[in-house]
Amino acid sequence: MSEIVVTCRLPDPGLPLLRGLSDDVTVLADDLSPGRDAILAAVPGCRALVSILADPVDAEVMDAAGQELRVVANYAVGYNNIDVDAATERGIAVTNTPGVLTDATAEVVFSLLLSAARWVLEGDRMVRGGEFEGWGPSLLLGTTLRGKTFGVVGCGRIGQATGRIARGFGMNLVYAHRRQVPEFEAETGAERVPLPQLLTEADVVSLHVPLNAETRHMIGAGELEQMKPTAILINTARGPVVDEDALVAALREGKIGAAGLDVYENEPRLAEGLGELPNVVLLPHLGSATVETRGEMARMTANGVGDVLAGRRPPNLVNPQVWERRRMG
Ligand code: GLV
Ligand code: GLV
Repeated sequence: MSEIVVTCRLPDPGLPLLRGLSDDVTVLADDLSPGRDAILAAVPGCRALVSILADPVDAEVMDAAGQELRVVANYAVGYNNIDVDAATERGIAVTNTPGVLTDATAEVVFSLLLSAARWVLEGDRMVRGGEFEGWGPSLLLGTTLRGKTFGVVGCGRIGQATGRIARGFGMNLVYAHRRQVPEFEAETGAERVPLPQLLTEADVVSLHVPLNAETRHMIGAGELEQMKPTAILINTARGPVVDEDALVAALREGKIGAAGLDVYENEPRLAEGLGELPNVVLLPHLGSATVETRGEMARMTANGVGDVLAGRRPPNLVNPQVWERRRMG
Protein backbone atom coordinates (compact mmCIF):
# COMPACT_ATOMS: atom_id res chain seq x y z
CA MET A 1 0.00 0.00 0.00
CA SER A 2 1.45 3.36 -1.06
CA GLU A 3 0.26 6.90 -0.58
CA ILE A 4 1.26 7.97 -4.11
CA VAL A 5 1.28 5.50 -6.99
CA VAL A 6 3.06 6.60 -10.16
CA THR A 7 2.42 4.26 -13.08
CA CYS A 8 5.52 5.23 -15.01
CA ARG A 9 8.78 6.98 -14.06
CA LEU A 10 8.44 10.75 -14.63
CA PRO A 11 11.44 12.84 -15.66
CA ASP A 12 12.89 15.37 -13.24
CA PRO A 13 11.69 17.18 -11.30
CA GLY A 14 8.60 14.95 -11.07
CA LEU A 15 9.73 12.22 -8.69
CA PRO A 16 11.76 14.43 -6.33
CA LEU A 17 8.75 16.71 -5.98
CA LEU A 18 6.44 13.76 -5.32
CA ARG A 19 8.91 12.28 -2.82
CA GLY A 20 8.90 15.65 -1.08
CA LEU A 21 5.15 15.19 -0.57
CA SER A 22 5.29 11.69 0.82
CA ASP A 23 7.76 9.07 2.02
CA ASP A 24 5.61 6.50 0.38
CA VAL A 25 5.83 6.83 -3.42
CA THR A 26 5.74 3.74 -5.62
CA VAL A 27 6.74 3.82 -9.29
CA LEU A 28 5.34 0.87 -11.22
CA ALA A 29 7.21 0.97 -14.52
CA ASP A 30 10.09 2.61 -16.29
CA ASP A 31 9.01 4.00 -19.63
CA LEU A 32 5.79 2.28 -20.70
CA SER A 33 2.39 1.81 -19.07
CA PRO A 34 2.63 -1.06 -16.56
CA GLY A 35 -0.81 -2.22 -17.76
CA ARG A 36 -4.16 -2.55 -16.11
CA ASP A 37 -3.44 -5.51 -13.83
CA ALA A 38 -0.35 -3.92 -12.32
CA ILE A 39 -2.28 -0.70 -11.70
CA LEU A 40 -5.21 -2.56 -10.11
CA ALA A 41 -2.81 -4.41 -7.84
CA ALA A 42 -0.93 -1.29 -6.73
CA VAL A 43 -3.69 1.26 -6.10
CA PRO A 44 -5.57 -0.08 -3.03
CA GLY A 45 -5.36 2.54 -0.30
CA CYS A 46 -3.49 5.17 -2.35
CA ARG A 47 -4.33 8.88 -2.08
CA ALA A 48 -2.89 9.93 -5.44
CA LEU A 49 -2.49 8.11 -8.73
CA VAL A 50 -0.16 9.60 -11.35
CA SER A 51 -1.01 8.17 -14.77
CA ILE A 52 0.25 8.42 -18.34
CA LEU A 53 -1.98 8.57 -21.41
CA ALA A 54 -1.72 4.84 -22.09
CA ASP A 55 -3.07 3.91 -18.62
CA PRO A 56 -6.77 3.11 -18.42
CA VAL A 57 -8.10 4.86 -15.32
CA ASP A 58 -11.74 3.86 -15.08
CA ALA A 59 -14.30 3.18 -12.35
CA GLU A 60 -12.78 -0.23 -11.64
CA VAL A 61 -9.35 1.29 -10.97
CA MET A 62 -10.88 4.02 -8.79
CA ASP A 63 -12.90 1.51 -6.81
CA ALA A 64 -9.86 -0.70 -6.39
CA ALA A 65 -8.06 2.32 -4.94
CA GLY A 66 -10.92 2.97 -2.55
CA GLN A 67 -12.10 5.88 -0.41
CA GLU A 68 -8.69 7.43 0.16
CA LEU A 69 -8.10 8.31 -3.48
CA ARG A 70 -8.17 12.11 -3.82
CA VAL A 71 -6.51 12.79 -7.16
CA VAL A 72 -5.68 11.24 -10.51
CA ALA A 73 -2.93 13.35 -12.07
CA ASN A 74 -2.52 12.62 -15.77
CA TYR A 75 0.91 13.27 -17.24
CA ALA A 76 -0.63 14.59 -20.49
CA VAL A 77 -2.91 17.34 -21.64
CA GLY A 78 -5.38 14.84 -23.16
CA TYR A 79 -7.30 12.82 -20.57
CA ASN A 80 -9.43 10.49 -22.69
CA ASN A 81 -7.79 7.58 -20.83
CA ILE A 82 -9.59 8.66 -17.63
CA ASP A 83 -13.28 8.22 -16.92
CA VAL A 84 -13.72 11.77 -15.65
CA ASP A 85 -17.42 11.29 -14.86
CA ALA A 86 -16.60 8.31 -12.67
CA ALA A 87 -13.95 10.40 -10.90
CA THR A 88 -16.34 13.29 -10.36
CA GLU A 89 -19.01 10.96 -8.95
CA ARG A 90 -16.46 9.67 -6.45
CA GLY A 91 -15.18 13.13 -5.52
CA ILE A 92 -11.76 12.46 -7.08
CA ALA A 93 -9.95 15.43 -8.64
CA VAL A 94 -8.44 14.91 -12.10
CA THR A 95 -5.55 17.08 -13.30
CA ASN A 96 -3.74 17.34 -16.64
CA THR A 97 -0.82 19.35 -18.09
CA PRO A 98 -2.22 22.13 -20.29
CA GLY A 99 -0.12 24.92 -21.74
CA VAL A 100 3.39 23.58 -21.16
CA LEU A 101 3.29 21.31 -24.22
CA THR A 102 1.53 23.64 -26.62
CA ASP A 103 4.60 24.83 -28.54
CA ALA A 104 6.32 21.45 -28.56
CA THR A 105 3.23 19.87 -30.10
CA ALA A 106 2.77 22.66 -32.63
CA GLU A 107 6.41 22.19 -33.65
CA VAL A 108 5.84 18.49 -34.27
CA VAL A 109 2.97 19.41 -36.58
CA PHE A 110 5.57 21.14 -38.73
CA SER A 111 8.07 18.29 -38.43
CA LEU A 112 5.38 16.12 -39.99
CA LEU A 113 4.15 18.70 -42.48
CA LEU A 114 7.54 19.74 -43.83
CA SER A 115 8.56 16.08 -44.05
CA ALA A 116 5.39 15.12 -45.91
CA ALA A 117 5.41 18.16 -48.20
CA ARG A 118 9.04 17.74 -49.25
CA TRP A 119 9.72 13.99 -49.19
CA VAL A 120 12.22 14.42 -46.36
CA LEU A 121 12.14 10.76 -45.34
CA GLU A 122 12.35 9.48 -48.93
CA GLY A 123 15.23 11.83 -49.56
CA ASP A 124 17.08 10.74 -46.45
CA ARG A 125 16.62 7.09 -47.38
CA MET A 126 17.82 7.79 -50.90
CA VAL A 127 20.99 9.55 -49.78
CA ARG A 128 21.85 6.92 -47.16
CA GLY A 129 21.07 4.13 -49.62
CA GLY A 130 23.59 5.46 -52.12
CA GLU A 131 20.81 6.23 -54.62
CA PHE A 132 21.50 9.96 -54.88
CA GLU A 133 23.15 10.33 -58.26
CA GLY A 134 23.18 14.09 -58.44
CA TRP A 135 20.78 17.03 -58.79
CA GLY A 136 17.90 16.49 -61.18
CA PRO A 137 15.10 18.81 -62.32
CA SER A 138 12.37 16.43 -61.28
CA LEU A 139 13.89 14.63 -58.30
CA LEU A 140 11.37 14.25 -55.45
CA LEU A 141 9.25 17.30 -56.21
CA GLY A 142 7.11 18.36 -53.29
CA THR A 143 4.70 21.17 -52.70
CA THR A 144 5.21 24.82 -51.66
CA LEU A 145 3.46 25.88 -48.44
CA ARG A 146 3.48 29.67 -48.95
CA GLY A 147 0.16 30.88 -50.29
CA LYS A 148 -1.61 27.59 -49.53
CA THR A 149 -4.47 27.22 -47.09
CA PHE A 150 -3.91 25.71 -43.64
CA GLY A 151 -6.99 24.34 -41.90
CA VAL A 152 -7.01 24.14 -38.10
CA VAL A 153 -9.60 21.68 -36.81
CA GLY A 154 -10.12 22.46 -33.13
CA CYS A 155 -8.81 25.88 -32.23
CA GLY A 156 -7.66 25.50 -28.61
CA ARG A 157 -4.17 26.34 -27.39
CA ILE A 158 -2.38 23.87 -29.66
CA GLY A 159 -4.51 24.62 -32.71
CA GLN A 160 -3.86 28.33 -32.29
CA ALA A 161 -0.09 27.89 -31.80
CA THR A 162 0.00 25.73 -34.92
CA GLY A 163 -1.94 28.34 -36.86
CA ARG A 164 0.50 31.07 -35.84
CA ILE A 165 3.41 29.02 -37.15
CA ALA A 166 1.52 28.33 -40.40
CA ARG A 167 1.02 32.08 -40.74
CA GLY A 168 4.80 32.47 -40.43
CA PHE A 169 5.13 30.17 -43.43
CA GLY A 170 2.90 32.56 -45.39
CA MET A 171 -0.11 30.27 -45.39
CA ASN A 172 -3.73 31.42 -45.29
CA LEU A 173 -5.73 30.17 -42.35
CA VAL A 174 -9.18 28.74 -41.91
CA TYR A 175 -10.37 27.06 -38.74
CA ALA A 176 -13.28 24.98 -37.54
CA HIS A 177 -14.18 25.34 -33.87
CA ARG A 178 -17.33 25.23 -31.79
CA ARG A 179 -17.07 28.95 -31.12
CA GLN A 180 -15.43 31.94 -32.71
CA VAL A 181 -11.90 32.77 -31.48
CA PRO A 182 -11.65 36.54 -32.13
CA GLU A 183 -8.11 37.00 -30.74
CA PHE A 184 -6.81 34.27 -33.07
CA GLU A 185 -8.61 35.85 -36.04
CA ALA A 186 -7.22 39.28 -35.21
CA GLU A 187 -3.68 37.95 -34.91
CA THR A 188 -3.60 35.66 -37.93
CA GLY A 189 -6.41 36.74 -40.25
CA ALA A 190 -7.93 33.26 -39.86
CA GLU A 191 -11.50 32.74 -40.97
CA ARG A 192 -13.87 30.44 -39.11
CA VAL A 193 -15.68 28.05 -41.47
CA PRO A 194 -17.81 24.92 -41.01
CA LEU A 195 -15.78 21.68 -41.08
CA PRO A 196 -17.08 20.54 -44.52
CA GLN A 197 -15.96 23.85 -46.03
CA LEU A 198 -12.57 23.61 -44.34
CA LEU A 199 -12.12 20.10 -45.71
CA THR A 200 -12.81 21.21 -49.29
CA GLU A 201 -10.70 24.39 -49.10
CA ALA A 202 -7.64 23.44 -47.06
CA ASP A 203 -4.37 22.22 -48.56
CA VAL A 204 -3.32 21.11 -45.09
CA VAL A 205 -5.82 19.81 -42.52
CA SER A 206 -4.36 19.70 -38.99
CA LEU A 207 -6.34 18.08 -36.16
CA HIS A 208 -6.39 19.58 -32.65
CA VAL A 209 -9.58 18.34 -31.03
CA PRO A 210 -9.69 16.32 -27.81
CA LEU A 211 -10.89 12.73 -28.19
CA ASN A 212 -14.43 12.21 -26.97
CA ALA A 213 -17.68 10.65 -28.21
CA GLU A 214 -18.25 13.57 -30.62
CA THR A 215 -14.79 13.57 -32.16
CA ARG A 216 -14.24 9.81 -32.53
CA HIS A 217 -13.95 9.14 -36.30
CA MET A 218 -14.61 12.81 -37.01
CA ILE A 219 -12.46 12.22 -40.11
CA GLY A 220 -13.82 9.15 -41.91
CA ALA A 221 -14.29 8.04 -45.50
CA GLY A 222 -16.83 10.79 -46.24
CA GLU A 223 -14.62 13.58 -44.90
CA LEU A 224 -11.51 12.26 -46.69
CA GLU A 225 -13.59 12.21 -49.88
CA GLN A 226 -14.30 15.93 -49.48
CA MET A 227 -10.61 16.83 -49.18
CA LYS A 228 -8.44 17.93 -52.11
CA PRO A 229 -6.58 15.11 -53.87
CA THR A 230 -3.38 16.98 -53.02
CA ALA A 231 -4.29 17.68 -49.38
CA ILE A 232 -2.03 16.72 -46.48
CA LEU A 233 -3.70 15.49 -43.28
CA ILE A 234 -1.78 15.98 -40.02
CA ASN A 235 -2.86 14.27 -36.80
CA THR A 236 -1.06 15.10 -33.55
CA ALA A 237 -4.25 14.92 -31.44
CA ARG A 238 -5.52 11.39 -30.80
CA GLY A 239 -5.59 8.47 -33.22
CA PRO A 240 -9.29 7.57 -32.98
CA VAL A 241 -10.26 11.04 -34.27
CA VAL A 242 -9.41 9.53 -37.68
CA ASP A 243 -10.85 6.31 -39.10
CA GLU A 244 -7.44 4.83 -39.84
CA ASP A 245 -8.65 2.13 -42.25
CA ALA A 246 -10.48 4.80 -44.26
CA LEU A 247 -7.30 6.90 -44.23
CA VAL A 248 -5.22 4.02 -45.60
CA ALA A 249 -7.77 3.56 -48.40
CA ALA A 250 -7.85 7.30 -49.17
CA LEU A 251 -4.04 7.51 -49.33
CA ARG A 252 -3.82 4.40 -51.46
CA GLU A 253 -6.48 5.59 -53.90
CA GLY A 254 -5.08 9.12 -54.14
CA LYS A 255 -8.17 10.72 -52.57
CA ILE A 256 -5.75 12.82 -50.52
CA GLY A 257 -2.08 13.51 -51.15
CA ALA A 258 -0.27 12.58 -47.96
CA ALA A 259 -0.55 12.29 -44.20
CA GLY A 260 1.65 12.99 -41.22
CA LEU A 261 0.69 11.05 -38.10
CA ASP A 262 1.95 11.21 -34.53
CA VAL A 263 -0.95 9.20 -33.08
CA TYR A 264 -2.78 6.02 -34.07
CA GLU A 265 -6.22 4.59 -33.67
CA ASN A 266 -5.01 1.48 -31.83
CA GLU A 267 -1.75 2.83 -30.54
CA PRO A 268 0.91 1.52 -30.80
CA ARG A 269 -0.46 -0.76 -33.57
CA LEU A 270 -0.91 0.56 -37.11
CA ALA A 271 -3.87 -0.07 -39.38
CA GLU A 272 -3.18 -2.70 -41.98
CA GLY A 273 -1.21 -1.26 -44.88
CA LEU A 274 -0.43 2.12 -43.26
CA GLY A 275 3.25 1.34 -42.75
CA GLU A 276 3.73 0.36 -46.41
CA LEU A 277 2.43 3.60 -47.92
CA PRO A 278 5.05 5.94 -49.38
CA ASN A 279 3.03 9.10 -48.78
CA VAL A 280 2.82 9.00 -44.99
CA VAL A 281 5.20 10.22 -42.31
CA LEU A 282 4.84 8.31 -39.04
CA LEU A 283 6.10 9.37 -35.62
CA PRO A 284 5.77 7.44 -32.34
CA HIS A 285 3.59 9.95 -30.40
CA LEU A 286 6.31 12.55 -29.86
CA GLY A 287 4.15 15.69 -29.67
CA SER A 288 5.31 16.74 -26.21
CA ALA A 289 8.65 14.91 -26.35
CA THR A 290 11.21 17.62 -25.67
CA VAL A 291 13.43 17.70 -22.60
CA GLU A 292 12.06 21.10 -21.58
CA THR A 293 8.41 20.22 -22.05
CA ARG A 294 8.51 16.84 -20.35
CA GLY A 295 10.22 18.46 -17.36
CA GLU A 296 7.52 21.12 -17.12
CA MET A 297 4.81 18.48 -17.48
CA ALA A 298 6.41 16.52 -14.62
CA ARG A 299 6.54 19.61 -12.42
CA MET A 300 2.91 20.49 -13.17
CA THR A 301 1.76 16.93 -12.51
CA ALA A 302 3.56 16.73 -9.15
CA ASN A 303 2.38 20.18 -8.09
CA GLY A 304 -1.21 19.22 -8.91
CA VAL A 305 -0.89 16.22 -6.61
CA GLY A 306 0.61 18.42 -3.89
CA ASP A 307 -2.19 20.93 -4.19
CA VAL A 308 -4.98 18.39 -3.92
CA LEU A 309 -3.39 16.50 -1.03
CA ALA A 310 -2.96 19.81 0.82
CA GLY A 311 -6.59 20.77 0.17
CA ARG A 312 -5.76 23.52 -2.36
CA ARG A 313 -7.52 23.72 -5.68
CA PRO A 314 -4.95 22.95 -8.42
CA PRO A 315 -4.85 25.36 -11.36
CA ASN A 316 -4.99 22.46 -13.82
CA LEU A 317 -8.15 20.79 -12.50
CA VAL A 318 -10.17 19.01 -15.21
CA ASN A 319 -13.34 18.45 -13.16
CA PRO A 320 -13.98 21.64 -11.14
CA GLN A 321 -17.37 20.27 -10.04
CA VAL A 322 -15.47 18.12 -7.56
CA TRP A 323 -14.10 21.23 -5.91
CA GLU A 324 -17.36 23.11 -5.81
CA ARG A 325 -19.02 20.15 -4.21
CA ARG A 326 -16.22 19.80 -1.68
CA ARG A 327 -16.47 23.48 -0.74
CA MET A 328 -20.23 23.29 -0.26
CA GLY A 329 -20.15 19.94 1.55
C1 GLV B 1 -0.08 13.94 -25.36
O1 GLV B 1 -0.58 13.35 -26.27
C2 GLV B 1 -0.84 14.62 -24.36
O2 GLV B 1 -2.07 14.58 -24.37
O3 GLV B 1 -0.21 15.24 -23.49
C1 GLV C 1 -4.68 21.64 -25.55
O1 GLV C 1 -3.78 22.07 -24.83
C2 GLV C 1 -5.42 22.51 -26.43
O2 GLV C 1 -6.14 23.35 -25.90
O3 GLV C 1 -5.28 22.39 -27.66
